[in-house]
Amino acid sequence: MTVASGSAASSAVRPVYDRADWASAFRNVDVELDGVDLTATRGAIPPDLKGTLYRNGPGRLERGGQWVHHPFDGDGMITALRFEGGRAQLRNRFVRTEGWLAEEQAGKVLYRGVFGSQKPGGPLANAFDLRLKNIANTHVVRLGDQLLALWEAAEPYALDPDTLETRGLSLLDGVLQPGEAFSAHPRFDPGHHGAQRMVTFGVKTGPRSTIRLMEFAVEDDPTTGLKAGQLLSERRDSFNGFAFLHDFAITPNWAVFLQNAIAFNPLPYVLGRKGAAQCLQSKPGGQAKFWLIPRDSGAFAGQKPRIIDAPDGFVFHHLNAWEEGDAVVVESIYYSDFPSIGPDDDFRSINFDLLPEGLLEQCRINLAEGTLSTTRLSERCCEFAMVNPEREGLSCRYGWMAVAERETGNDPLQAIKKLDLQSGQRQVWSAAPRGFVSEPLMVPRPGATAEDDGWVLCLVWNGARSASDLVILDAASLAEVAVLELPLAVPYGLHGSWSPA
Ligand SMILES: [Fe+2]
Repeated sequence: MTVASGSAASSAVRPVYDRADWASAFRNVDVELDGVDLTATRGAIPPDLKGTLYRNGPGRLERGGQWVHHPFDGDGMITALRFEGGRAQLRNRFVRTEGWLAEEQAGKVLYRGVFGSQKPGGPLANAFDLRLKNIANTHVVRLGDQLLALWEAAEPYALDPDTLETRGLSLLDGVLQPGEAFSAHPRFDPGHHGAQRMVTFGVKTGPRSTIRLMEFAVEDDPTTGLKAGQLLSERRDSFNGFAFLHDFAITPNWAVFLQNAIAFNPLPYVLGRKGAAQCLQSKPGGQAKFWLIPRDSGAFAGQKPRIIDAPDGFVFHHLNAWEEGDAVVVESIYYSDFPSIGPDDDFRSINFDLLPEGLLEQCRINLAEGTLSTTRLSERCCEFAMVNPEREGLSCRYGWMAVAERETGNDPLQAIKKLDLQSGQRQVWSAAPRGFVSEPLMVPRPGATAEDDGWVLCLVWNGARSASDLVILDAASLAEVAVLELPLAVPYGLHGSWSPA
């Protein structure tokens, strides 16, 4: 494991991973650990790192000999690592969703998956079964006394933040209707207008799409009686066209959405031939749009959304957004096209060279003129990017992200990069050749004043021992602080969060 820095760090021109190592992370998790004490295999856990790292991702990829068609169809499993006083404790639990419980009992697949997993029996057995299996596998965040396991097409599952036991589906004290879509990408406003808020959305798609934008309190306020988890504001806005909205970004005054130029033809899904997400396709000649919705807490509250043409390409995730005079600047990871795994492809044998890589770009939207300019920030394949959470929605200098080992081209994510967004300088910590990274989380050091003072926490798939390592890096230098070899094999995950509680 190495650290490289500078503006032209050297790297191999050929892939430096073994496909068998990479594919060995696709597996079922067969244990649920209950507070196992861990020690650092290398280095030492910082004594001032205090809180819990929560990770969510697919923990079950096969049942009754039948594999999911895409890992994103795997049942959600939460991994929690609690840190205090230089010690760490590990716990993991599947989310007891209705679908998981039913399939556990039946010992076979009972539901179709959105990304193309089918029930046994071919199209005939799958046609017209339009039930959604809420697999609660995409993100996990703390809101008040609840831990929420999120999956964007339905309501969250509430869990106990300490034991990870599933309490059940949550309608957030009546805020949601049963089955209502609730994004897996909340953004945490660090205090743009006073107290912290969780800003999130739900989207109802169709020929016209409606976004419900919601803001929640994240802390109790004894002076007003406000409770964490309480809805503070909401608004609904409708737009022309089908919307596939996975993520969004916030600034003090705006919620920023990017409507990809995507078409949805549900017929193969209805007829049992494809999953719903496999029916998404780039729309030839389509025009992507930025939708900027005024936040109720901001200066443009109550005004209509602004709609601006966006660049070509496909975006799942944004890094950050902020305001500069009349401009809103949005940094996002762009793919040249919508990447999907077709009905006849095996996800373990995908050809990375044939899939577009994610590249970080900055769009500067001039609201006064309705114009936009784009700058490529890096040529290196990346995903899962974040800024210091205390700078969310504000201009900031650094981003941390998962990247490929190679400087260009598409490959599995094997390294963590810290990018200076102003100068282009970067540091890279690499787990290659046998390690594969997941989403890195930047955790500020308590009381820090410098933007990059803190740690980066990352679960790494260690191909050499077919298990997961938790790696703690210094956020400023990306020097390795500690490595914990977990007694657990966690498949490649999706998103997670840090809770200082
Ligand atoms: Fe995501």
